[in-house]
Amino acid sequence: MINNRKFFTLDEFTIKQLREFPQATGELSSLMRDIGLAAKRVNVEVNKAGLADILGEAGKENVQGEIVQKLDEFANNQFIGVLHHGVNCAGVGSEENDDIVVFDDELSNKSKYVVLMDPLDGSGNIDVGVSIGTIFGIYRRVTEKGQPCNISDFLQPGRNQVAAGYIVYGSSTLLVYGTRRGINGFTLDPSVGEFCLTHPDIKCPPHGRIYSVNHGNFFQYEEGVRAYINACQKKDSSNGGPYTQRYIGSMVSDVHRNLIKGGIFMYPGTINKPKGKLRLLYECNPFAFIAEVAGGRATDGKNRILDVQPYELHQRSPLFVGSSQMMDELESYMHAEPAK
Ligand code: AHG
Repeated sequence: MINNRKFFTLDEFTIKQLREFPQATGELSSLMRDIGLAAKRVNVEVNKAGLADILGEAGKENVQGEIVQKLDEFANNQFIGVLHHGVNCAGVGSEENDDIVVFDDELSNKSKYVVLMDPLDGSGNIDVGVSIGTIFGIYRRVTEKGQPCNISDFLQPGRNQVAAGYIVYGSSTLLVYGTRRGINGFTLDPSVGEFCLTHPDIKCPPHGRIYSVNHGNFFQYEEGVRAYINACQKKDSSNGGPYTQRYIGSMVSDVHRNLIKGGIFMYPGTINKPKGKLRLLYECNPFAFIAEVAGGRATDGKNRILDVQPYELHQRSPLFVGSSQMMDELESYMHAEPAK
């Protein structure tokens, strides 16, 4: 029989990678397959969001005072359920749970990984059919295997991530994940229900023409950020300006587009919220990891995101992430001496 398939499925790809590393245990590959399964289940619900009773608010707020959508809860339950059942994960830290969820049973306690995740990012866009996503970072636990994991396993700097990724529930459904060896993107083929490798070895172009920021907050940003945004709008043949502004309000989609096409995504601190809105552990760190492996950069305006030592599960951080030369440009404005 002739096999005309052009694409590796996610399972085939992880098994192939595993074979290249005879010392690997296969736990990370199994964990990725679990995440792929949860993503498919969430995808089904996202696609029928207008048809089923899954739209709208769940009638409560999360630990950060944000309104929880029904789909937020559904996605959270799916990812936690699949990760627990898969026994490759000792526990989860999620945007939707006040505290870490410890899978305290014999098999899970033997797992070496913990997962930090935002199960449904951009949930403000659910009701209007705009792309939303899932973000995750995977860490090797620092506590001893055989015991329940604890908060110290989750409060690790982002540079300790073993793998990180995201899922875009958009015009197509994409799962992008990477280890230090490279970033790969898989598109869900709905006819067979498999993620297929469509974006091998993703590299972020060193320069692009897209900048993404919430312009509504412009006057609340610090001077250097405002100066850079102004520069993005000016004609400058040396860097291809003026740039194009694109901001969906789902960072998964915004950062994914900029990663592929080249660009910069910014969620700076504001006068009222100096740490901005995004969460360090499960929004900034996974994207910082992916951007760096792909050749880009990510900072909080002062420090490399991946070097920040976390002190709490839901801490926030400003985020600037994107093409390396655009990050250099931004920093030349942010670190310039203030005009006298
Ligand atoms: P949420 O999941 O609460 O909708 O937050 C989405 C995040 C992020 O994905 C997006 O880039 C940002 O919030 C948008 O925030 P603003 O509306 O403040 O720009």
